Amino acid sequence: PTITYIQPDGTAEAMTVEDGTTLMRAAVTSGVDGIVGECGGQAMCATCHVYVRPEFAGRLPQIGDDEDEMLDCTTAERTDRSRLGCQISVDAGLDGIVVDVPADQV
Ligand code: FES
Repeated sequence: PTITYIQPDGTAEAMTVEDGTTLMRAAVTSGVDGIVGECGGQAMCATCHVYVRPEFAGRLPQIGDDEDEMLDCTTAERTDRSRLGCQISVDAGLDGIVVDVPADQV
């Protein structure tokens, strides 16, 4: 599957990842600016905050309780498009997903 990250200035970075790679891991591995993943994917840091484009909202997993709590601790404003990148594994069902990287992450 492919993932596209859009930076606040509009720069797009697209990449193809292994099935099951999370939005956080793919970004950190590829050095995408603005996604930190400090806790390593435990839903404990909120530095993997992303805004998922609305057209993909219906294909996302439900927000878990831990994720919901951490989303209240994001540096950039939480919106109804906010998710923790580490809690979203990308497989064929999310192929082509596009996410916006927040202007502030830490
Ligand atoms: Fe820490 Fe996602 S990497 S909450």
